[in-house]
Amino acid sequence: MFDALKTLHAEKCGENIPDLFEKNPQRASAFSVRFETLLFDYSKTRITEEVREGLIELCEEQDVAGRRAAMFGGGLINETEQRAVLHTALRDPDGPDLLVDGEDVRAPLRHTLERMEDLARRVRSGALAGPGGAFTDVVNIGIGGSDLGPVMATLALAPYHDGPRCHFVSNVDGAHIHDILQRLDPKTTLVIVASKTFTTVETMTNAATARRWVEAGGGAAARQFLALSTSEEETAAFGIPPEHVFGFEDWVGGRYSVWGPIGLSLMLAVGPEHFRDFLAGGKSMDDHFRTAPWEQNMPAMLALTGIWHHQVCGCPTRAVLPYDQRLRRLPAYLQQLEMESNGKSVAMDGTPLPYNSGPVVWGEPGTNGQHAFYQLLHQGTTVVPAEFLVAAKGHEPELDQHHQLLVVNCLAQSEALMRGRSLEEACALMKAAGYEGAELDRQARHRVFPGNRPSTTLIYPQLTPYVLGQIIALYEHRVFVEGVILGINSFDQWGVELGKELANSLLPLLRGEGSADGKDGSTQALLKFVQDAQ
Ligand code: F6P
Repeated sequence: MFDALKTLHAEKCGENIPDLFEKNPQRASAFSVRFETLLFDYSKTRITEEVREGLIELCEEQDVAGRRAAMFGGGLINETEQRAVLHTALRDPDGPDLLVDGEDVRAPLRHTLERMEDLARRVRSGALAGPGGAFTDVVNIGIGGSDLGPVMATLALAPYHDGPRCHFVSNVDGAHIHDILQRLDPKTTLVIVASKTFTTVETMTNAATARRWVEAGGGAAARQFLALSTSEEETAAFGIPPEHVFGFEDWVGGRYSVWGPIGLSLMLAVGPEHFRDFLAGGKSMDDHFRTAPWEQNMPAMLALTGIWHHQVCGCPTRAVLPYDQRLRRLPAYLQQLEMESNGKSVAMDGTPLPYNSGPVVWGEPGTNGQHAFYQLLHQGTTVVPAEFLVAAKGHEPELDQHHQLLVVNCLAQSEALMRGRSLEEACALMKAAGYEGAELDRQARHRVFPGNRPSTTLIYPQLTPYVLGQIIALYEHRVFVEGVILGINSFDQWGVELGKELANSLLPLLRGEGSADGKDGSTQALLKFVQDAQ
């Protein structure tokens, strides 16, 4: 499928990105997409008009438009689980009726959102309180999509916080819950157990520990626990009354769930109005994704840039580099979104994928990363396409100087990756520093930057709830388009199951119940090491 583009890539491999700007002075705008206040610039890549046409053809060949219509319309596009994929409905609660299995999903979804808002208002005003008074703290217990979305968004929107402090416990490592609970008052802490299935072992273990902590500390678990889940039976079995349960349907995938009840901690932190703005931002990106022609379609062009770098140029990873400290969990969030969605080895019909699945996604906020791994980005032998994100304006006008430094660093990095520094330029520098002969040459070679390294930049005016909603929906649709082009199911995650099963089989062995004979030598030795140390 990528052969024509690969040929094009091979033919043009001598081409330099800076030369493309020389050839086309309009390149920056010709290879950018604007949507509302957002600008996505992919001009610092080797994508040319010919390449773009070839990439857009992939959308046609793979019927991205058809799959998109099926997704928004409630079709069962998650074929291995026979489920619709309708997280987009969560951010469009007032849209027209939408039928799944012959039932309208919009009205119940609106009802749940209104219940969440009512609860958030009561908690934030102190009308709903713990035995020690108004809730000062909220602990969200969840993992994967039941953690990463809320934690990423809550950190991102810190300037809007005017509700209780929010904390997030995910890891089954007791250190996590211990270190958080020890700072809190069990009589004024609201505990949210967030789990789509309500069976995830990490979450249920942490939830049981939190309940013991509340009860031992004079709290009232019945009043202080909320559940966010698709399973009424499981939440009831845990002892959470129905009025404290906020349900959702199985057509909301875990990693797409921050827009609904799983986002309750975010709503408690920033308030229902800001949460609605977050939804509205997501919906605006949905509308754009559904209607804009491919060339001006931001999610599609972000996806096609990804396909170009990973499938055609052969770059195995991509770095997400937010120059925005409050987006520090965005790379982790995107790791789940992208790698759990598109890290598959078979096509929808079960046949082996004839090309690579989605790339490894990683990253850290700038400028911190500059003082850590950027060395490899600039001079390492592997090319890592970099995806920069930056706000034109910060939230701290009194610290404007910081923001200016942040922005120029972001722009400088993409410029440096593209331009590089030739041996000639490095020699001139070394000569000016007093070097001569062989030593000048040796020193200069260490200071050469190959350049021609691709990057994209997403600029937004300021990280508001609305803009955050747009950014998250942008990435969701990017993953969707890449998945459709690859012909895989982006909405299941069978690859997480085997490890869970094996952990279940190992627990009795660790406790000395049963024989480890069936295990391989390494696993037996590791088990024995732990048992001996206990
Ligand atoms: O193990 C992977 C996974 O199923 C993710 O897809 C999901 O987001 C996470 O676990 C948590 O699942 P749950 O919300 O059901 O606890």
